[in-house]
Amino acid sequence: YFLLLFFFFAGLVVREASIEITRQQVEELFGPEDYWCQCVAWSSAGTTKSRKAHVRIAYLKKSFEQEPLGKEVSLEQEVLLQCRPPEGIPAAEVEWLKNEEIIDPAEDRNFYITIDHNLIIKQARLSDTANYTCVAKNIVAKRRSTTATVIVYVNGGWSTWTEWSVCNSRCGRGFQKRTRSCTNPAPLNGGLPCDGQAIQKLACTTLCTVDGVWTDWSKWSACGTECTQWRRRECNNPAPKNGGKDCEGMVLQSQNCTDGLCMQTAPSTDDVALYVGIVIAVIMCLVISVIVALFVYRKTHRDFDSDIIDTSALNGGFQSVNIKTARSADLLTAPPDLTNAAAMYRGPVYALHDVSDKIPMTNSPLLDPLPNLKIKVYNSSGLVTPQDDLGGDFTSKLSPKVTQSLLDNSDTMNLRNQSLARTRDPSCTAHGSFNNQGGHLIVPNSGVSLLVPAGAVPQGRVYEMYVTVHRKDSLRPPVEDIQTVLSPVVSCGPPGALLTRPVILTIHHCADNVQEDWLIQLKNQLAMGEWEDVVVVGEENFTTPCYVQMDSEACHILTETLGTYCLVGQSVCKAAAKRLKLAVFGPVSCTTLDYHIRVYCLDDTQDALKEVLQMETQMGGKLLDEPKTLNFKDSTHNLRLSIHDVPHTHWKSKLIAKYQEIPFYQVWSGSQRTLHCTFTLERLSSATTEISCKLCVRQVEGEGQIFQLSNTLEEEVQCIDTSLMDPASNITTLVGPNAFRIPLSIRQKLCGSLDAPQTRGNDWRMLAHKLNLDRYLNYFATKSSPTGVILDLWEAQHFPDGDLNELAAVLEEMGRHDSNFASMTTEH
Ligand SMILES: *[C@@H]1O[C@H](CO)[C@@H](O)[C@H](O)[C@H]1NC(C)=O
Ligand SMILES: *[C@@H]1O[C@H](CO)[C@@H](O)[C@H](O)[C@H]1NC(C)=O
Repeated sequence: YFLLLFFFFAGLVVREASIEITRQQVEELFGPEDYWCQCVAWSSAGTTKSRKAHVRIAYLKKSFEQEPLGKEVSLEQEVLLQCRPPEGIPAAEVEWLKNEEIIDPAEDRNFYITIDHNLIIKQARLSDTANYTCVAKNIVAKRRSTTATVIVYVNGGWSTWTEWSVCNSRCGRGFQKRTRSCTNPAPLNGGLPCDGQAIQKLACTTLCTVDGVWTDWSKWSACGTECTQWRRRECNNPAPKNGGKDCEGMVLQSQNCTDGLCMQTAPSTDDVALYVGIVIAVIMCLVISVIVALFVYRKTHRDFDSDIIDTSALNGGFQSVNIKTARSADLLTAPPDLTNAAAMYRGPVYALHDVSDKIPMTNSPLLDPLPNLKIKVYNSSGLVTPQDDLGGDFTSKLSPKVTQSLLDNSDTMNLRNQSLARTRDPSCTAHGSFNNQGGHLIVPNSGVSLLVPAGAVPQGRVYEMYVTVHRKDSLRPPVEDIQTVLSPVVSCGPPGALLTRPVILTIHHCADNVQEDWLIQLKNQLAMGEWEDVVVVGEENFTTPCYVQMDSEACHILTETLGTYCLVGQSVCKAAAKRLKLAVFGPVSCTTLDYHIRVYCLDDTQDALKEVLQMETQMGGKLLDEPKTLNFKDSTHNLRLSIHDVPHTHWKSKLIAKYQEIPFYQVWSGSQRTLHCTFTLERLSSATTEISCKLCVRQVEGEGQIFQLSNTLEEEVQCIDTSLMDPASNITTLVGPNAFRIPLSIRQKLCGSLDAPQTRGNDWRMLAHKLNLDRYLNYFATKSSPTGVILDLWEAQHFPDGDLNELAAVLEEMGRHDSNFASMTTEH
């Protein structure tokens, strides 16, 4: 070690002095600790001392803690090369070389260097086949890791087949072939060759051509009047086939008769007589056939008329459908008598009326005419009665009688209209102004919130932010048959706002056992109202913009893009189940003899139950029992609802069927937010005020729940309890540091100490692991402060009652006493 000391005396003399000290000298006297030197100058005027020069021994160890390993990867795969530099003081800086050239991630966006010095190739390209070296250096030394060779290979792929070739034989059996080549793409760098055959053969038969050949000549004909005779031959020995040549030459040949056989004479009178006879015979034939035709025509018409008369006589005006099929042709040509037809159904119609007159109308299966609900009612005789909806208007959700009783008092109605208008928005929305300090927006009792961490809104800006739960069925994303909507549709905004850290949108979902039984997709609504897939949970990579943390009831979406989101799922097996929330409502007061019990089968999310509670309260309904959860399996079995133990002395059920069923797909698709079904009971006297019964809801061959209902009816219309609908009754917006459980100063200290990679690995990665947030660590690794994002997620997961002591215990377990979180939290 070499130490130089300079002395400056203003104005007069300048003296320079230096001293050379070796490490040995120092270590002999003081040991291997750090030391400092100081220069002392003195004269008659006094003594003066220089500043202390601290000397610290810098070093960089030789061997890397971890060195990158070579690997072979297929095209577009993600590659992770790890490097942990040797220990050193000061800590080594790390850079990566690709074939000895420094990698600059700013220049080539396909490279990413994580905060803990690992190199990530986001999507391997052919050009990424190279030798990679990790280089660590500080002022003392520069060390190179072993070189890792990354080979990007391409598996071969087949081209499309060529057309079939023509059959290779000119005549008879042969074969034809088609080929393909392993060039789409060709295997490269040791990729797998194509699997399968490159050539396909097919047997084929070409039809053979056959040339025509004459038969032998026939014998000469007898000598004709012209004194010639003829002979002929045919071209069919064989006949030409499949394009073979026709025979050449004449078919007929004539020659003069020889041997004096020819007699040249004129036609005789015998011949004339013969001709006349033939003509007469032909005329006779024509006359006879006309007579026969007339006779047949008249006969068929008479047959048809008598048939009609016969059948109507048999059936007394009712012509049954059993007209003999053989006669249908007649019916087509002769239009049926319409007056007859009108009469023919009269009989059975009267018969039907007769039967129905004997059944009191009140006994028909009664279903509440509720919106968009088709329910099949199965009664004991197995008849199916589909029931249609009455439209989507809110008031029509009330069964007519209830509506009437509610509408009797016009004041209450006005009040209701007002409260409807008032509650439409506020109870579904939270909003506030946020600056760089962040905050938290909560839609009360809906399981929906938006956490805006400190630093998410850019410094110096203020955003008016909001989060809204949508309740229109029309806003839900369209789903395929096998898919189901698992969460409410939630918007946060302002859309397009620039964020410098991810915000966390929390939504409740209703999937049971998310990790194993479901494939879950996050969807985002585009400006045009269309939906796009953002990410399949569990398949995140460098190109996906969001990270989704699925907890058992809620999901937390980390995103830097504000917009409209929704979860859609697809079950992986028949055992997959959706959680349903069953809620039973009845009227608070009852002025008629009928008493309607409504059973809602909702997605088990807080918001769905909240919506129904609001709706029912406005309709004058109340919860009859604690809502219950039911796991509804993807087994295609319907949901069956039945009522039992109705006290028959005072009440009568209007349902003659044994039960009502909601079809499987109506429940599974989740496309109807307020799916429900109604049981109507009739009081035998208005003096009856006590009702008790059991309601059973179960999936056929699946899980079930039983509600034990017991209720007292009241005559007067009571005040409607609107507390649930009052948005002011809950805190919806928390602004600034108060919104977070972890105090800002502690958070900053934690980030400072956990963001830097530790050789023992007890850094942010271990924190993520301990908090079960390590499903896709690369998401955090790409953020400027991984610890910060993990802590944000912890805040969102544990709102509102996160236990700081638990977090402290986790840090304790990690052996990070330096962060001393426990003492810090107690200070606050
Ligand atoms: C890596 O280095 C070795 C040794 O220098 C060399 O033979 C090889 O071609 C290099 N590989 C690549 C992909 O550049
Ligand atoms: C047949 O006889 C007629 C006259 O009798 C003659 O003109 C003709 O040439 C003869 N034909 C052959 C084929 O002998």
